[in-house]
Amino acid sequence: MGRLSILTGSLTTLQIPTLALRQKSQPVPQDITPDVLRTLLTEMFACMYQVNGRGLAAPQVGVLWRLFILDMQQPLGSPPLVLINPEILDMDDTIEQGREGCLSIPGYLSHKVPRSRKIKLAGYDQHLERVTLEAEGEIARGMQHEYDHLDGILYIDRLSSWDDLESNPDLWLNKANQVMDRLAAEAPKV
Ligand code: NI
Repeated sequence: MGRLSILTGSLTTLQIPTLALRQKSQPVPQDITPDVLRTLLTEMFACMYQVNGRGLAAPQVGVLWRLFILDMQQPLGSPPLVLINPEILDMDDTIEQGREGCLSIPGYLSHKVPRSRKIKLAGYDQHLERVTLEAEGEIARGMQHEYDHLDGILYIDRLSSWDDLESNPDLWLNKANQVMDRLAAEAPKV
């Protein structure tokens, strides 16, 4: 396998209509070295936190591997989650509609994305240890959203109508804050 040589802060999130977001990703190779994995994960977390994201799948940064990260801060202070080569073991038949946005679809969100209330997944963590995870509610929703990315599926594909898509005011607020921060940093010091 070729060396993956990247520097922190070098990844950017792909946005639709990038074709990479529509591909089925390949399993993370069995012979991945801890260094390559650690570098990729560090980059992905940096990329996600930079834009206040709560989840990111590798294909969103152009790496077509079956791996995602999630940091829902639920319960508050809980550690972020890494799931490599996940498999869905079980999904609850109860479907709930809820709020989702996506870093790859900036400026939009929906409150009507249907997801299973509970999910059970197996896969590998950041130490390549086998794990089984069960989640419900918001975390189950986040896992389903990120898992979908590995198959090239976006939350907008799950909506029953385009009318369920809304403009996301947070995006414009964040942009305004960024501009203000930049202006403050550039302002002459007196
Ligand atoms: Ni997404």
